Amino acid sequence: MALLSLDSFLYVFKLFLPALVANGSPVLLREGYPLDFRRNFIDGRRILGDGKTFEGFALGLFFGFYTGIVEAIVFKNMFFIEIGFLSSLGALIGDIIGSFIKRRMGLKRGDKAPLLDQLDFIYGAALFLIIVGITFDIPSFIIFQVLVIFLHIVTNRIAYYLKLKPVPW
Ligand code: CTP
Ligand code: MG
Repeated sequence: MALLSLDSFLYVFKLFLPALVANGSPVLLREGYPLDFRRNFIDGRRILGDGKTFEGFALGLFFGFYTGIVEAIVFKNMFFIEIGFLSSLGALIGDIIGSFIKRRMGLKRGDKAPLLDQLDFIYGAALFLIIVGITFDIPSFIIFQVLVIFLHIVTNRIAYYLKLKPVPW
């Protein structure tokens, strides 16, 4: 296995593209019904907060899965249908866990949590892929994370200027 070849990086990119789409698409929603049913955790704070909704979850899963289908067609490999599902489901669950952690830290919806905000969904997706035995090159995965942090900053700024998000992060 070649370390840090362009091929291995592109493979990581293909595996995580549905996760990126799944994580990015719920922002298009203005509001929805909160996944935590507006309930508080034992610490008196919201379990997840208003930023995690059923509608957002469904939309993310739909677009993420759809991305996998498009990849399957483009790369002529049906394996990407499975990837699309796992990568986006893992991303959405990772993002939910990220919000759960943020609420426990006393951070409000939309408050900044550097690295956690940018990487929760990536690690969720990675876990789901690894669980079913899909492996990838770690150096490529690290480079990919750096790219995602950069992309996250740029796209959130764009979403803020388009008034899709109330804060630029
Ligand atoms: N979103 C949603 N449902 C989800 C995930 C995201 O409706 N399952 C929408 C929400 O409108 C959310 C936006 O996408 O505000 C951006 O997601 P994210 O940045 O993860 O949420 P934050 O508002 O920053 O909330 P948190 O502090 O919980 O991360
Ligand atoms: Mg988040």
